Amino acid sequence: MAGKIPRDFIDDLLARTDVVDVVDSRVKLKKAGKNYQACCPFHNEKTPSFTVSQDKQFYHCFGCGAHGNAISFMMEFDRLEFVEAIEELARFHGLEVPREKGMRPAMSEEKKQQLEDDYSLMERVARFFQHQLRNHPHSQQAIDYLKQRGLSGDVVKRWEIGYAPDEWDAVLKTFGTDHDRIRQLIDLKLVNKNEQGKTYDFFRNRIMFPIRDRRGRVVGFGGRVLEDGGPKYLNSPETRIFHKGQELFGYYQARQANRQLNQVIIVEGYMDVVALSQFDINNATAALGTATTPEHMQLLTRGTSHIVCCYDGDRAGREAAWRALENALPALKDGVQLGFLFLPDGEDPDTMVRAVGTEAFTALTDQAMPLSRFFFDNLLKKHQVGTPEGKLALKNAAQPLIDQVLGDEQRALLQEELAKHVGEYDRFRLQQDIAKANHNPRNSRNTQPRHAVQRSRLSPLRMMIKLLVESPVLASQCEEVSPTLLQSSGMAGMDLLIDVHQYCQQHPQATTAQVIENFRDHPHSSHITKLLLQENLVSDEDARQVYSDSFAKLLDWHFDSRIETLISRSRVQPLSQAEKQELNLLMKERQRS
Ligand code: UTP
Ligand code: MN
Repeated sequence: MAGKIPRDFIDDLLARTDVVDVVDSRVKLKKAGKNYQACCPFHNEKTPSFTVSQDKQFYHCFGCGAHGNAISFMMEFDRLEFVEAIEELARFHGLEVPREKGMRPAMSEEKKQQLEDDYSLMERVARFFQHQLRNHPHSQQAIDYLKQRGLSGDVVKRWEIGYAPDEWDAVLKTFGTDHDRIRQLIDLKLVNKNEQGKTYDFFRNRIMFPIRDRRGRVVGFGGRVLEDGGPKYLNSPETRIFHKGQELFGYYQARQANRQLNQVIIVEGYMDVVALSQFDINNATAALGTATTPEHMQLLTRGTSHIVCCYDGDRAGREAAWRALENALPALKDGVQLGFLFLPDGEDPDTMVRAVGTEAFTALTDQAMPLSRFFFDNLLKKHQVGTPEGKLALKNAAQPLIDQVLGDEQRALLQEELAKHVGEYDRFRLQQDIAKANHNPRNSRNTQPRHAVQRSRLSPLRMMIKLLVESPVLASQCEEVSPTLLQSSGMAGMDLLIDVHQYCQQHPQATTAQVIENFRDHPHSSHITKLLLQENLVSDEDARQVYSDSFAKLLDWHFDSRIETLISRSRVQPLSQAEKQELNLLMKERQRS
């Protein structure tokens, strides 16, 4: 277990950080009134709906709903884990990240040193292979091979393609300078050790593709034979720094090449990624000889709004695509479009782009088959819906998959399609209508809410949370508002309101960013972010009034329901003296308001 990063430190880090700087260094911002704007880096758009508020230290996209503070931005944009984002920010400010005592630190110093050493060795080995391609006396065959594959010198350089000489100890001799180094080479699977204890290079006589992780560090290699026959590719096996299921070849480069990665194409081969880039298509990435995993999909859905899976049109290709689809569903959030492109038999993206050119290939990916189409095309091949049995079988096959879909809208869409295919569309519509009707608050009792609250669609309680998070200072400004009075009211969300209020009262200087940070792990943190996404209905000038009106309204509701409780109890048994007094007070209070 990692020693926790102290809250204070995170608060302090956020206080030193300006989200505008963080965003602006990655996405150029324009000043727009009090805020800053840009086209959203998290989805494809032509007119800017991505807004950064310096006051609140918060960003929000009205188009796709992306939102958060500086830490969230770095997590989303740079694809970092929470701790990594904190470390990056700390590094930027020249701070050391402290860890709370009592627990083992996340990583011992030695382990950290070891990893840095591993990355540096991998980098040097990558350079070594590159150097061999240009300088080794027998590299001509490799150079000829690359030429014959149609790769330009420029693209070979860009992808740092190298050559592992046809020797047993080229890497071993160059880098295995002492016992520890040899051990490290073995650990990183650059050198093999056989049962007799003999050591020798893992990659020999191969074209070498260095594999960089999402942070740009060389973590492994793919090596291609020069002559076909036998397994074509040899990949680095898993090591302490290389986890195939998590890495995508070319993803780092795609992110480097595109400020906004509007679309990512998943292809099957290293050569496909490289060839596409030679044709100016710089958004392709390949899984490393494995199926596309849920982790891959999660990584991609965080960084782009359009994923196109590109496969052979043959049976194997369709099966691979289906596996990718299954793995994508749990990561498929709303706003992300997943498409499938099936190439004609015998073609792969490498041969295809050479045959049709950049424009035609781009048109193909842009018009990829939508997920819902591939989903049902494939299932309908297996289940004939002409019979009730077939319909049932389709339903049984589709429903568990649909249930996994992350995004509500995407799930609803597939559900609707399914209803059509199994002839339950009318029932589906009816259910929708009922659900909608149940959602509309009938609000019979309080037909005349106070004016300021009336304009909003939020309940007073939610409005209060939203206003507090947006302007934490309200908690100390409005002393008359004291949510703890309603602790026992049992109103939904009251606990969260009390927690947020308490935090804001104790931290009047806090920014929105700091509040959300402190509630990141709160069981109801998602409510907070959802509330922030609601359009801002209250102007800054009105905030105080609306906040205090909302609280008054909650009190009214509470009093009303308490009055009702007491009155109905009095019908059954006489009230105690205390209860009578309470009722009296409540009635008076009620008349005043
Ligand atoms: P392909 O055979 O489609 O690769 O395999 P490619 O890139 O098109 O190869 P060539 O050079 O044009 O012939 C797709 C991917 O599957 C993995 C590799 O990651 C490869 O890029 N693979 C394939 C292996 O790991 N081992 C193999 O023997 C073959
Ligand atoms: Mn190929």
